[in-house]
Amino acid sequence: MIDRYHEHSEQLLAQLPKGIFITAKGGEKINTMTIAWGHIGVIWGKPMFIAYVRYSRHTYDVLEQATDFTINVPAPGELKEALKIAGTKSGRDIDKFKEANLTLTPATHTNTPRIQECPLNYECVIRYRQTMEPALIPGDVKDRYYPNHDTHIMFFGEIINVQG
Ligand SMILES: Cc1cc2nc3c(=O)[nH]c(=O)nc-3n(C[C@H](O)[C@H](O)[C@H](O)COP(=O)(O)O)c2cc1C
Repeated sequence: MIDRYHEHSEQLLAQLPKGIFITAKGGEKINTMTIAWGHIGVIWGKPMFIAYVRYSRHTYDVLEQATDFTINVPAPGELKEALKIAGTKSGRDIDKFKEANLTLTPATHTNTPRIQECPLNYECVIRYRQTMEPALIPGDVKDRYYPNHDTHIMFFGEIINVQG
């Protein structure tokens, strides 16, 4: 287990509700999208970042072919326009890196690169995934978040490197 995986967690968790990027490369496809749901913790004695990605996202299709992903955290108050583009447009239709002026740079431990403009990056290897069980979702949550049954899949990424 890497030491001090939690060292920058306050910065990560403060930015999360405002949006961070999850980037994934699977086969020839590469994409990034904005996420505001997720958590960091320990499972099976390993530090993990767990991301929630709906089936409908292009990012879901890429993650299905990927072995890893990176989590890219903007500096406070920065990259607002890029977060908007990555969170409203689909990689099916456009090259989001080009459109949002984001530069990819190789990561040290993952096939998926990281975003250079983000000062805090997590390199995560996918260890597990889990679909939400519709029968167990509270009725009010289902009505609000899943009227079209487009539930989230949880991607469990073991954090193998943190750059911050
Ligand atoms: C601030 C913000 C937070 C978001 N959080 C999530 C999230 O946690 N999970 C998710 O599936 N979509 C989330 N979205 C929506 C996706 O980012 C959006 O649908 C995006 O266009 C999907 O791109 P893709 O089709 O290239 O994957 C969020 C959007 C914004 C603006």
